[in-house]
Amino acid sequence: MDGTLTQNDLSHVVEADKAHVWHHLLQHKALETSDPRIIVEGKGMRVWDQHGREFIDAVSGAVWTVNVGYGRRSIVDAMSEQLMKLNYFAGSAGSVPGALFAEKLIDKMPGMSRVYYTNSGSEANEKAFKMVRQIAHKRYGGRKHKILFRERDYHGGTIGAMSAGGQLERNLQYGPFAPGFVMVPHCLEYRAADQGWGDLSGEAYGERAANAIEEVILREGPDTVGALCLEPVTAGGGVIVPPVGYWQRVQEICRRYDILLHIDEVVCGVGRTGTHWFGYQHYGIEPDFVTMAKGVASGYAAIACCVTNERVFDLFKDDPSDPLNHFRDISTFGGCTAGPAAALENMRIIEDENLLENCTAMGDYMYESLGALADKHAVVGDVRGKGLFLGVELVADRDTKTPVSEAQVGATVAGCAAEGVIIGASNRSCPGLNNVLCLAPALISTRDDIDQIVDAVDKSLGKVFG
Ligand SMILES: Cc1ncc(COP(=O)(O)O)c(C=O)c1O
Repeated sequence: MDGTLTQNDLSHVVEADKAHVWHHLLQHKALETSDPRIIVEGKGMRVWDQHGREFIDAVSGAVWTVNVGYGRRSIVDAMSEQLMKLNYFAGSAGSVPGALFAEKLIDKMPGMSRVYYTNSGSEANEKAFKMVRQIAHKRYGGRKHKILFRERDYHGGTIGAMSAGGQLERNLQYGPFAPGFVMVPHCLEYRAADQGWGDLSGEAYGERAANAIEEVILREGPDTVGALCLEPVTAGGGVIVPPVGYWQRVQEICRRYDILLHIDEVVCGVGRTGTHWFGYQHYGIEPDFVTMAKGVASGYAAIACCVTNERVFDLFKDDPSDPLNHFRDISTFGGCTAGPAAALENMRIIEDENLLENCTAMGDYMYESLGALADKHAVVGDVRGKGLFLGVELVADRDTKTPVSEAQVGATVAGCAAEGVIIGASNRSCPGLNNVLCLAPALISTRDDIDQIVDAVDKSLGKVFG
């Protein structure tokens, strides 16, 4: 740390935090007898806490966000310059960085054409849901309004987004939710037996899981289903890479029943899965909506986008004489200019530093290194992921695949922190299945960083499971 805050200042910060901050996801009772972790500073892949303790951040800001790493002067400069020129104007008008980032983004997304700015992943998804609902009213007398979502996927913390929440434990106690959202089965092959499809693997499983979506559509009535909302690779629900053949079939099903395909790239977007800018681009699918947030500006500013193709956009300007015809929506902070200014520079960094390629190479290396842990630790049941976006499913017994307890997973995460590495884990998400360690280090990771991260996981698994 550079010492700009003294130890006295920091103890005041800890007291102020304990007295007044309500932390995300945290059970606060524990803070009556301990101090919160305060992250004071970050540089590259590393962060420092209030005690000056250094950690490697293996989850990019705890929630797969800081993709280009901490302390990027050029992003701060781009934002600072823009903020002095014009910090804000509502999105009913344009802004210079808003127009330029939209152009650059669309250049990376063949087939897509329009960027609707907003300020969080949840809100970007809500915008897509509202567009689907409005299209249902405009074209189908309100009937084709249902939105399908998938078991184990997550789309945000607002009530609308939770209505599309496939993490059933996360949803407990927050209902009732909005009507017209319907769940389809997950596509995690490792858990195929729980779905009654244990005899299927590879492409056969992929087709089965996709056909299950069609079955839901037929049950609900295709004329009532407006959209299907999916994560390209499920994140917090256990890092689930869809099986071979799945996406092609999903696309066919959407086309057959005239269902709009909404891909939630809030985690996968802007490089996280390597090689391509977006997760869906690995599978050659053509979405109607793509939502993104976290990595768009690597957390330097709050920015999220709901991107559509021209087919969707045109539906909102086909009758200008109708006062209800256009998308009558605003997001106040969608007009903040720091977001697109930071996002432009974030994208330049990814291009100039070849971070998509680095993400693929380091992701492959990390996948192999984590896979090798299975030889040492019987508790490692499955390793999966794409790019620098990996999950390790921990099981008490490899044959029965009985999940370890959430407490043991928590102890493993704490053990890594004791080794100086911050990792994540699925938590309070899917009943009985919060047993996946999550790793998503910044796209700037080196082999040495990966070695240190995997070494910490190795040591921690050894301590917790022997
Ligand atoms: C896949 C996915 N979609 C949406 C969201 C919600 O984003 P936000 O927290 O910015 O509202 C998240 C957050 O973790 C996410 O993982």
